[in-house]
Amino acid sequence: MSEAEQTLSIIKPDAVERNLEKEIKTIFEKSGLKIINSKKIHLSKEEAADFYKVHQTKPFYDRLCSYLSSGPIIAMILEGSNAIKKNRELMGATDPLKAAPNTIRKLYGVSIDKNSVHGSDSPENAAAEIKFFFK
Ligand code: CMP
Repeated sequence: MSEAEQTLSIIKPDAVERNLEKEIKTIFEKSGLKIINSKKIHLSKEEAADFYKVHQTKPFYDRLCSYLSSGPIIAMILEGSNAIKKNRELMGATDPLKAAPNTIRKLYGVSIDKNSVHGSDSPENAAAEIKFFFK
């Protein structure tokens, strides 16, 4: 048995706007991930830029920061065995068009930008992203 791990998940503005919080949280809980903390927050563009700074050299960085700060989001700490990998499997590919059936992004994502959820991609980023929202 692997040890419980934590990861950060965000329900993005497009999904909060469409009242998908309950549906998305149910997907996590049904798969065995515990939501041990959750908060609704509206980031400023500067805060979004800080959160996504690993992407600062990417051509889509400015658009990404404007989008994340465009409305309220829900940040959550998910906990369970292999939480980082499990969450990424539940989310599906970044581009909803390429996401596998029944993944969150396939079910609810509208575009590569409005892809409904974010999830940490490594233990290092999970620790930093959890600290960002839940100091
Ligand atoms: P997320 O998992 O939140 O991490 C960075 C985000 O950048 C990603 O989801 C997408 O919503 C967004 N993005 C926009 N364009 C691209 C792209 N070409 N490749 C990867 N991510 C992109």
